[in-house]
Amino acid sequence: MNKNSTKPLNLFEYEKLAVECLSQMALDYYASGAWDEVTLRDNRTAFERYKLRPRILVDVSKRNFATQILGQPILMPLLIAPMAFQCLACPEGEIATARAARSSGVGMVLSTLSTKSIEEVADSCHSFDTASDVKPEAYRPALQWFQLYIHKDRGLTRALVERAYTAGYKALCLTVDAPVLGRRERDRHNEFVLPQGLQLANLVNMSGLNIPYQAGESGLFTYFAQQLDPAVTWKDLDWLQSLSPLPLAIKGILRGDDAARAVEYGAKAIVVSNHGGRQLDGAIASLDALAEVVKAVDGRAEILIDGGIRRGTDILKALALGAKAVLVGRPILWGLAVAGEAGVARVIDLLKDELDVAMALSGCASVEDIDNTILTATGNKSTTE
Ligand code: FNR
Repeated sequence: MNKNSTKPLNLFEYEKLAVECLSQMALDYYASGAWDEVTLRDNRTAFERYKLRPRILVDVSKRNFATQILGQPILMPLLIAPMAFQCLACPEGEIATARAARSSGVGMVLSTLSTKSIEEVADSCHSFDTASDVKPEAYRPALQWFQLYIHKDRGLTRALVERAYTAGYKALCLTVDAPVLGRRERDRHNEFVLPQGLQLANLVNMSGLNIPYQAGESGLFTYFAQQLDPAVTWKDLDWLQSLSPLPLAIKGILRGDDAARAVEYGAKAIVVSNHGGRQLDGAIASLDALAEVVKAVDGRAEILIDGGIRRGTDILKALALGAKAVLVGRPILWGLAVAGEAGVARVIDLLKDELDVAMALSGCASVEDIDNTILTATGNKSTTE
């Protein structure tokens, strides 16, 4: 980026600016992956292994990428991934993210480990309905899901689900790739802990839980070991679904057989994910798992994907491989760190603009036109062969 230019033109430029805005501990927590960060890097390079095969002479004068996720309309096939501790990036944290998601017409998944509560985040979007300074076109229903970690304390877990349902969240997104926390060595070096004044907003009032300080260790690692239940199995899904009428999305699947089993256990959506390379280093890139999952699920649930999505062409490729929508993680935090709610809205806008151009140049006027014939894996002639 030109040093005189303050306006980032893409998500990578947002990342560069965010580096200047965050403490070293927050930056490392946001950016890092597990161990050697091989999976973190591979999430990006996987997108380069697929090339586009544009269709020509298609009328793309009117383009539309609105879609529906579990029956809820969104203006583009994008949700903000659940990410803990957003107040490390700006004081409004998850509230700023939710408001930007809402005004941009995309979805948002709120983390169990948020620094603003389930109710605060939901209310911040309800009050949006009556704000006089908001243009009418910004009145859109919020697609908010709640991401759940199952705690050893099942009463507390139940209470979280009930609160999410009461507050109006549209689905429960159970993260299944974290029976223990992945080893993020940058956080261990920093002895990661939440700074004074920040807390686990969903948990602190219920049980006083917070991220502990432990010398030589990431406090989050210790929290996971003490509080989260590594004994969760498929049989717990029935119990979970009995707690509320919310549809279940399962996040953190990388295999077709697991995806098929999740559907048999009632999941309505699958999020193909390796947690942004933060859990099992050496796990395959999310994009490389997508086709297998799509095939195994065979239309019985909606498939979403996250990990390494940084360009509109990445969204196009994920949709071509069968995803209904993508989740975006870290770039949202970069936007939040640089300019709060406006920064998040701008990051989404950049992706929206890039997707629009990528679709036009590929001969796709709507998401229905995107199929696997517009893609080829490096070394293959076409994914359809
Ligand atoms: C995460 N992620 C995550 N996932 C989850 O289910 N619950 C959580 O609380 C968190 N927290 C979290 C914090 C931070 C700082 C990051 C970067 C990620 C994982 C997240 O939902 C998503 O899977 C990845 O971030 C997607 O990859 P990209 O877009 O960051 O490459």
